[in-house]
Amino acid sequence: MLVSAKEMLDKAKAGHYAVGQFNINNLEWTKAILQTAQELNSPVILGVSEGAGKYMAGYKTVVGMVNGMLEELNITVPVALHLDHGGYEACYKCIEAGFSSIMFDGSHYPIEENVAKTKELVAAAHEKGLSIEAEVGSIGGEEDGVIGMGECADPKECKMVADLGVDFLAAGIGNIHGKYPANWKGLSFETLDAIQQLTGDLPLVLHGGTGIPADMIKKAISLGVSKINVNTECQLAFAAATREYIEAGKDQQGKGYDPRKLLAPGAQAIKDTVKEKMEMFGSVGKA
Ligand code: 13P
Repeated sequence: MLVSAKEMLDKAKAGHYAVGQFNINNLEWTKAILQTAQELNSPVILGVSEGAGKYMAGYKTVVGMVNGMLEELNITVPVALHLDHGGYEACYKCIEAGFSSIMFDGSHYPIEENVAKTKELVAAAHEKGLSIEAEVGSIGGEEDGVIGMGECADPKECKMVADLGVDFLAAGIGNIHGKYPANWKGLSFETLDAIQQLTGDLPLVLHGGTGIPADMIKKAISLGVSKINVNTECQLAFAAATREYIEAGKDQQGKGYDPRKLLAPGAQAIKDTVKEKMEMFGSVGKA
């Protein structure tokens, strides 16, 4: 059964490790992530962006697929199904569809509006037993070929949003989605430290987990990060393994064109990536 992410993240914060949020794109992704979590006895969060939800034929389809796998694959570790960077309406749709956690990303609104909408959604999520993440500051990333550096969160605004009763908080600290550019300045630990000073026990979330070096990840965890989001790295690993299979001509040997064979190396690459991250984040054996 799906669980809210609150308990697993409170435990992670107290135990000084982080739980990975791995974004899913299809059945192979979901299965690879769930099997790895089970093998490593680790809690896990499956992230679904609005775009991925649409791609997978809607939130209800995703809920059906994930619930089916939990049962048929005998997954007993804690699993949360979480809307990633949800808009106002998507949050309500996911609450309805059976997700166990949502993120409301109101970071592009003026802070007053972010606060008002977050407050309303906290009540709606908690009423149905879901956990909720909010965002302050912006997380950079590539848009139309330009890499935005994001905007560091104001610790006072973080405190304001934390006080609304959110279960965990994403704050921009120089992190960006996708690959980091060569001139990236690194994470702002000063900002992270100031945020934790004001928000206390609240688990903090680090987006853009792809490509952040292990020493920075460890330092971020020591300063209160308890959830780390990874998406692009699984996509790169999947694409590289699939390319290797095709370039070796394996799809043209025997029944190598069978999707169950063709997608197998990519699925294994996702498993290897998830394992590496869970070990780095310290969540192995914490289920
Ligand atoms: P990456 O794609 O950079 O790993 O970021 C994932 C993320 O933060 C999803 O919200």
